[in-house]
Amino acid sequence: MSENAIGIFDSGLGGLTAAKELIRVLPNENIVYFGDTARVPYGSRSRSTIITYARQDAYFLLSKGVKLIIAACGTVSSVAGTLTNELPVPFTGVVVPTAAAAVSATGNGRIGVIGTYATVNSGSYKEEIIRHNNRLEVYQQACPMFVSLVENGIIDPNDDIVKLLVARYLSPLKEQGIDTLILGCTHFPIIAQAISDYLGSEVTLIDSGRETALYAAELLKSHKMLNTASAPGSCRYYVSDTVDSFEKTAEIFLGKSVAGAVSHINLEKVAVH
Ligand code: DGL
Repeated sequence: MSENAIGIFDSGLGGLTAAKELIRVLPNENIVYFGDTARVPYGSRSRSTIITYARQDAYFLLSKGVKLIIAACGTVSSVAGTLTNELPVPFTGVVVPTAAAAVSATGNGRIGVIGTYATVNSGSYKEEIIRHNNRLEVYQQACPMFVSLVENGIIDPNDDIVKLLVARYLSPLKEQGIDTLILGCTHFPIIAQAISDYLGSEVTLIDSGRETALYAAELLKSHKMLNTASAPGSCRYYVSDTVDSFEKTAEIFLGKSVAGAVSHINLEKVAVH
């Protein structure tokens, strides 16, 4: 069992922010990544559609024999938490670990949350932050177009379109004087530099992909499921749309080529019980 892979899924490229960190902290683990690139974005869809998609994604990973499933997606984590009760393997989303990190990081008690519409409307991060400390102020902002930027590989912090959208979405949060910002969608850390350039270095950015990877590593330890093999683990990537565009942006973000490790799959053939 310990040699089985860790399954990570997202609507597209965003979950790579968790995969990258997981590879760093647990280099011996095998990873199976699924990006539902044919159906991205999830964040502007209804709750029931997101739950249907999330179940298909998780059952695809189960078909690969994974030992743990990470929904490296703020949207799925915010609306499909019940997956925990139905899956035969441990499962985690991103909200719990990310909110905890933000609560520890804030000095002035003013925390910003950015995510998709579905995430912000669910109030999931806010609820989790308030559960830790109800005196904290939480300011939320949906930034759906950040997802399109990332999926299209428009991620250069000096790109005018990136700068314009960052300023447009984040100016209300800047005015609130936040000192901590949750990047509540796993796509957003990919444009973290542009976000930091706009908000200034005094605002701490909390990367949901990174925090979740660290949390998942602890989860594996506590379930005594760590891979004890000494060789470096392998990574396989699956996408529901074209392989080429995923390979290009994944390479920029991961800093290494994923060519040959990415396959296309047809989700309609996945059995969901
Ligand atoms: N990366 C996702 C999230 O964390 C989903 C973005 C989307 O598909 O809209 O919310």
